[in-house]
Amino acid sequence: MTVTRRAACVIGWPVEHSRSPLIHNYWLWRYGIDGEYRREAVRQQDFAGFIATLAARGYAGANVTVPHKEAAFALSQPDERARAVGAVNTLWFDGDALRSTNTDVEGFLDNLDASAPHWDRDAATALVLGAGGAARAVIHGLLSRGVERVVVANRTASRAEALRTSFGARVQVGDWARLEAELADAALLVNTTTLGMQGQPALELDLARLGGHAIVADIVYVPVVTPLLAAAKARGLATADGLGMLLHQAVRGFALWFGKTPEVTSQLRALVEADLIGPQANRPQTR
Ligand code: ATR
Repeated sequence: MTVTRRAACVIGWPVEHSRSPLIHNYWLWRYGIDGEYRREAVRQQDFAGFIATLAARGYAGANVTVPHKEAAFALSQPDERARAVGAVNTLWFDGDALRSTNTDVEGFLDNLDASAPHWDRDAATALVLGAGGAARAVIHGLLSRGVERVVVANRTASRAEALRTSFGARVQVGDWARLEAELADAALLVNTTTLGMQGQPALELDLARLGGHAIVADIVYVPVVTPLLAAAKARGLATADGLGMLLHQAVRGFALWFGKTPEVTSQLRALVEADLIGPQANRPQTR
C-alpha cells in the first residue's frame, strides 16, 4: 500500500513573512504526522494557474495570503463565512471540489473565548475600529455570536458605511474623530486597523471612558503587546491579542489537511512569540 505524504502550503507574494509554516510544522512534529507545510511564492498573474495544479503538486489544500485572498474566493467554492467576508484564507479539496473558508472569523472568536471566557454574556455593544477585510471577519463573528450592536469607526467613513450596507442595521457607523465618546457604551473594543503595528503610528486613544468590565482585543500581533493592549492592561481590563487570533485561525486548516484537530498551547505560543522577537523579528506582519 502506498501512503501519500500529506502536504499543504501558504501561497502569497511576498510570502517570506508568513508565520504559518512555523505553526503547522510545529503541529506536524507535535502529533507525529508525516507531512509537510511549505511556502509558495506565487505572483498575482500566476495564481489561477497555480491553483489549477494544486492537487497535481501534491497539496491537500493551502492557506492564501496577500494578494490572493479575493482571487482564491473566485476560484473556489466558498462557505458562508468566506462569503460574508468576501475573501478566503483556507482552501481544501472535498473530492475534486476545491472548497474554501475564512478562518479569521473563528480565529477571532475562539481567541476571545479563550482569553475572556463568557465575553458574550453581556456584550450588547461592540466598537470595531477599521473597515478592511479583517473588520469584516470580526463583525461577522460578533453578529453571529449575538452582539446586538456593532459600531464601526474608520478613518475613511465611506468604508464603514459600506459595511453597514452589507451587514444591515445591527451595524452602525461611529465617528472616527470622536472615538473617546464612542467608548462609554462598548462592552468590547476591537482594533482591526494597522495602527499600533511595528513601523506604523500608534492608535491614539484614551481608554478612560471604557467600563471596568470592557474587553479590549487587537488583531495586530507585531508587537504582541500593542500600545492599545498595554493601556487596557494598565487599566485592569481583560485583553485578547492578535497572536492568539493568528494561532486559533490556523486550527481548521490543519484539521482539514492532516486529519487532526490541533491544540493551541502555551508551548506553541512561546515558539511563535520567540520568532516574533528573535533574529527574524524584522519580518512584518502579514495580513
Ligand atoms: P485588512 O484587509 O487586513 O483589514 P486594509 O483593508 O488595508 O487591511 O485595512 C486597514 C485598516 O487600517 C483600514 O481600516 C484603514 O483605514 P482606511 O480605510 O481609512 O484606509 C486603517 N488604517 C491604516 N492606516 C491608518 C492610519 N494611519 N490611521 C487610521 N486608520 C488607518
